[in-house]
Amino acid sequence: MTDNLSLKAPPIDALTRQIKYHYRKKDKFIEYLVDFLSQPDAEKSVCKPCIKRWGLMPHVDIPDEEKQSVALWMFKNFR
Ligand code: HEM
Repeated sequence: MTDNLSLKAPPIDALTRQIKYHYRKKDKFIEYLVDFLSQPDAEKSVCKPCIKRWGLMPHVDIPDEEKQSVALWMFKNFR
């Protein structure tokens, strides 16, 4: 069993819940995520404690279409 102290980044289910709290609608959820992946920014963060704990994540260098796919997958598969 892994304990939560050894996590290197926030768990995806917790992140999805947090994003949905701020961006309830699918379109807004995707818009937030595509933007954050392109240019992570503490000001736009939906989890300030995450940034305190781990530091800001690196930007994810994949095409926007793939960012949209990941975002839609998260929206559909986690509550
Ligand atoms: C498609 C890939 C990825 C997705 C969808 C993703 C998604 C996210 C999201 C939504 C957050 C919360 C952002 C916020 O603060 O509002 C986050 C945080 C974080 N991610 Fe990622 N991430 C990805 C890749 C990565 C990679 C490659 C790393 C490290 C090598 C990483 C490390 C972190 C860390 C340390 C945090 C907490 C600090 C922060 O919020 O910036 N992530 N991630």
